[in-house]
Amino acid sequence: AALRETLKQMPKAELHMHIEGSLEPELIFALAERNQVKLNYASVEELRRAYAFTDLQSFLDIYYAGASVLLKEQDFYDMTWAYLQHAREDNVKHAEIFFDPQTHTDRGVPFGTAINGIHRALKDARAEWGMSSAIIMCFLRHLSEEAALETLEQSMPYRDKIIGVGLDSSERGHPPEKFARVFARCKELGLRLVAHAGEEGPPEYIRTALDLLKVERIDHGVRCLEDPALTQRLARDKVPLTVCPLSNIKLRVFDKVGDHNLVKLLDAGLTVTVNSDDPAYFGGYVNENFVQMFDALPLDKNHAYRLARNSFAASFLDAQAKQKFL
Ligand code: HPA
Ligand code: ZN
Repeated sequence: AALRETLKQMPKAELHMHIEGSLEPELIFALAERNQVKLNYASVEELRRAYAFTDLQSFLDIYYAGASVLLKEQDFYDMTWAYLQHAREDNVKHAEIFFDPQTHTDRGVPFGTAINGIHRALKDARAEWGMSSAIIMCFLRHLSEEAALETLEQSMPYRDKIIGVGLDSSERGHPPEKFARVFARCKELGLRLVAHAGEEGPPEYIRTALDLLKVERIDHGVRCLEDPALTQRLARDKVPLTVCPLSNIKLRVFDKVGDHNLVKLLDAGLTVTVNSDDPAYFGGYVNENFVQMFDALPLDKNHAYRLARNSFAASFLDAQAKQKFL
């Protein structure tokens, strides 16, 4: 019980969450009504029952359907504000938030509508609670590199609101090298670089994300342990892994909480962090991820502090801001 309190109360940073994945079913229905968007589900309960995923793609299909209710800047604000309240309750002091512009621009919602709504909520949380935050724009890897380059172009008027770029959506069959040119361009622009790799895809995708995209963090990365040389390299170079345990269970990367490789990743000397990924879909916000893993696995207070420390060390906060938390 004391350990649970430590997990909940320790200051932490969240580095891997998709803001569209924080849309709770109740808010999806409220926004659908407000915007007169038709959903293929009759009720909140029916939608929630559809959250029985078999793999990443089965989740993504529902996640994109849920995001279809977001039309106006206020919708993006309300979604982000709801997430920030949960993050505050979980004592998240700093959040780096992914958003998927193409999920919106491909439906005719302007880039600015999405980012301005998200950014205004982050600004309010900073003013009201002192919570710090940053926005990472993700390219959808099932779409073309040309589409990603076009999205980068659209983002330029909002350059000051974006700290970096990432790569998400369907991993298998869409290796990092597909996006080598757009990531090179982002690096020239001074954007920080991350990519999802080694969630469902092979360890090789982690290696190519590092070597060809030059990413600074790996999102998920849990399959690295299949490749001992790669694991050693990640440990030696202190490449952070933003691990999302409940996501991995819900998307069947591991069968059950007790089968998760979090302890093995820590024992291998990796800079692991714990995150919620898509909290509305995977059964909990960041503290729920901590509590469920610590209940099921041989983890103690020292692991808790190490994970919290890692979350700040791996963040894109500047050295001075980081120092406050380390
Ligand atoms: N993996 C890939 N793409 C995603 C995810 C994820 O876990 N969540 C939202 N988009
Ligand atoms: Zn993710």
